[in-house]
Amino acid sequence: MEEVRRRHAAAEAGGGEERRARQHQEGKLSARERIDLLLDEGTFDEMDKLVRHHCRDFGMHEQVIDGDGFITGYGLIHGRPTYVFAQDFTVFGGSLSEANARKIVKIMDLAMKTGAPVIGLNDSGGARIQEGVLSLAGYADIFLRNTLASGVVPQISAVMGPCAGGAVYSPALTDFIFMVDKTSYMFVTGPEVIKTVTHEDVTKEALGGAATHNATSGVAHFEAADDGECLRMIRELMSYLPQNNRDGAPRRVTDDPAGREDAALDSIIPAESNQPYDIKDVIRRVADNGELFEVHEHWARNIVVGFVRMDGATVGVVANQPAYLAGCLDIDSSTKGARFVRFCDAFNIPILTFEDVPGFLPGTAQEFGGIIRHGAKLLYAYAEATVPKITVITRKAYGGAYCVMGSKHLRTDVNLAWPSAEIAVMGAEGAANIVYRREIAAAEDPDAVRSAKVEEFRERFASPFVAAENGFIDDVIEPRQTRPRVIRALRMLATKVDTTPRKKHGNIPL
Ligand code: HXC
Repeated sequence: MEEVRRRHAAAEAGGGEERRARQHQEGKLSARERIDLLLDEGTFDEMDKLVRHHCRDFGMHEQVIDGDGFITGYGLIHGRPTYVFAQDFTVFGGSLSEANARKIVKIMDLAMKTGAPVIGLNDSGGARIQEGVLSLAGYADIFLRNTLASGVVPQISAVMGPCAGGAVYSPALTDFIFMVDKTSYMFVTGPEVIKTVTHEDVTKEALGGAATHNATSGVAHFEAADDGECLRMIRELMSYLPQNNRDGAPRRVTDDPAGREDAALDSIIPAESNQPYDIKDVIRRVADNGELFEVHEHWARNIVVGFVRMDGATVGVVANQPAYLAGCLDIDSSTKGARFVRFCDAFNIPILTFEDVPGFLPGTAQEFGGIIRHGAKLLYAYAEATVPKITVITRKAYGGAYCVMGSKHLRTDVNLAWPSAEIAVMGAEGAANIVYRREIAAAEDPDAVRSAKVEEFRERFASPFVAAENGFIDDVIEPRQTRPRVIRALRMLATKVDTTPRKKHGNIPL
């Protein structure tokens, strides 16, 4: 018994009081404190606490710490099993040894067999330098499991300290990345290497801090002010997710009536078609208790993605944002939307789309950047998704973007439109200028002819009725009825089964 207690205490001491104090001084919690905040109180069972590294080089045989700096095990979040690993920066800088790579592999294999999520709390100097290729092999073993687990169990990464070099690719392969402001950073090569190779001067924070990856690169999905907030946010995200790809998301009892109408929606669309409004107001008015858990809040803000509950059930929302870049689809928003749609589809979460999109963003930057390739991702993701799909067109649905954003033609189940919907190949001005170019040029009063033609196009196409007459829209509804109609459609679709042709896997444009 004494030996058991001694070994447990040694493992819990990690790299010692001094290093732990330094961790706290830097505004970071210790690995064990993080696990305690993440999991339901008192539910953590640690595995491999007594594992030791086997390195004999560089004097490592004299520095052996039980557990070897990674804490792995399982516990509960909201009463549901979850696997977790946390890198302890106080032990060899949280670096990955062969031994603790095996610890991660062990819990990931268990997660796959038992169908439960894996959460990784990263805070590490990367590959354990003293172990050379054995450490690299450990990373590759983890990358393989991240890939095999993708779409089978939710995988969540929190970056709560350094995460550099090839080590970034384990979080990158997971479904969601959280970062903590000022104390976390991710990059493939650090500032010194960049200075040598490209002569650029950049700080760690600017290169790979939480703000950079949340707002500029889109590598991270969530930004937290500190460790505590980060762990609370992970718990909140988990409340929306199923345990695995055979499971349904948990339902939450709600006191928000399914039949609740919201009269404010009737006047939320501005009188002028080119005026912005905040699509998040619409989402919140439709969702249970006005709650939206936004994903990728700071990146590609012309599209909003996130989780809501409708009548207690998790729903993934994808919505064009007219308040930012007029809600245009561009490279980043297409990628953002596509990845979210694919997550929802992989984990049986219905997709609710709010559409107000004037089209794809024009310009050489977009074309040279491959908007064709990236826009195709969103198209592919919607077309491929077999979960219940509902689309509500609030205003513009123009051009290719009409097709992309969950149109009927991509096997969306229920397509609704508000009376303010404008469904056409392009706006009335552009259409009149192209179709009647000669007439307008030849006219005595070109402006009068142009206005008349614009008006003609507007009357014919700036409405949802042609689409509804063709059955591409199932109904034109009063905006106030959106919540009850969507909830009834979701109930109707609860037993939906749809398939794709048998194949090894598709070839989504990457
Ligand atoms: C072994 C490491 C280590 C590592 C840090 N330590 N990184 N030990 N392997 N990779 C140890 C330090 O020796 C030190 O030990 C303790 O951890 C804390 O490190 P400090 O340098 O004192 O901390 P700090 O000043 O906060 O700097 C953190 C750091 C820095 C920026 C992460 O340690 C660093 O640059 N480390 C090396 C990073 C790196 O290049 N890793 C390899 C990346 S490539 P003591 O005993 O003094 O407390 C990679 C490949 C992955 O990871 C492959 C995947 C395909």
